[in-house]
Amino acid sequence: MLDQWPHTSAAATTPATHTTSATIARDFGEASASYDSAARLQRHMGHQLLVRLADATPGDLTDIVDLGCGTGYFTAQLQGLLPTDTGVTGVDLSPGMIDHARGQRSPAIRWLVADACQLPFADASLDLVFSNLMIQWCPDPIPVLEECLRVLRPGGHLLCSTLLDGTLRELALAWEVADPGQPHINRFEPELVLKEALRRAFPGALLQRETVVLEYPGPAALLAELKALGASFKGQGRRPTMTAPGRIRRMCEVYPRAARGGIEASYAAGYIIGRKPANSIQTDSGAR
Ligand SMILES: C[S@@+](CC[C@H](N)C(=O)[O-])C[C@H]1O[C@@H](n2cnc3c(N)ncnc32)[C@H](O)[C@@H]1O
Repeated sequence: MLDQWPHTSAAATTPATHTTSATIARDFGEASASYDSAARLQRHMGHQLLVRLADATPGDLTDIVDLGCGTGYFTAQLQGLLPTDTGVTGVDLSPGMIDHARGQRSPAIRWLVADACQLPFADASLDLVFSNLMIQWCPDPIPVLEECLRVLRPGGHLLCSTLLDGTLRELALAWEVADPGQPHINRFEPELVLKEALRRAFPGALLQRETVVLEYPGPAALLAELKALGASFKGQGRRPTMTAPGRIRRMCEVYPRAARGGIEASYAAGYIIGRKPANSIQTDSGAR
């Protein structure tokens, strides 16, 4: 998922709209076996969502969905935390991820392959949509947020994390020096754009921000982690020669070193906390 969102020139980034669903599903499926061992950031951010779950959802939760569940780590966490009669469903675009999750987790969890933009749930049928680091893979957050609002019951909760503009800014800058003007990093929404999407599609939802800095022995370890996650650059501007050894060597040379000798990578984490109004009415054109 890792997408990156540099503050460099526009040419150095590629809009998420250029990444097809099939590419995303394939890459994550291929990474399903290596994903959990590389998911440091994903674990941190998912646990931050679980902390917010404890604060935000004192009421009963009967039907919940983990949207973009990946290997199902947090689907299983949710199932363990909630009352035994809570129905937990993991949903992911990638059949490979869903197969992997089904093989690893409790048989009590239901698994579905589906796109977050077209959820296979009835209107007002869920109490919680939990979604850790999925929405930044979608070309536009608005249809996803609208779907979340549609499927939630009045009073239902949305807990969703994403990555914002500024994520992997060190890597973006190093690539800009090594291969000027060429996209190497997926694009992340600016905070203001996401806030506007929330205002339009999930009114009242809050966006909280956190900067997470992870350390790596060097840039090669960062690239290896992204690959293990299935989160390498997927933009349309990807050229066969973009990762030629000479270019990668140059990028590694110019990547800034941290004081202790390794490198740091910054991630601009965003946490969305929303609640569907308790008095909302379902209409033919969606929730009001
Ligand atoms: C970074 S992984 C996060 C997995 C999991 N939530 C976690 O915390 O480890 C992103 C997941 O979102 C899924 N995904 C991407 N786009 C999606 C979409 N439009 N609908 C459903 N799932 C999607 C990917 O297949 C991948 O498994």
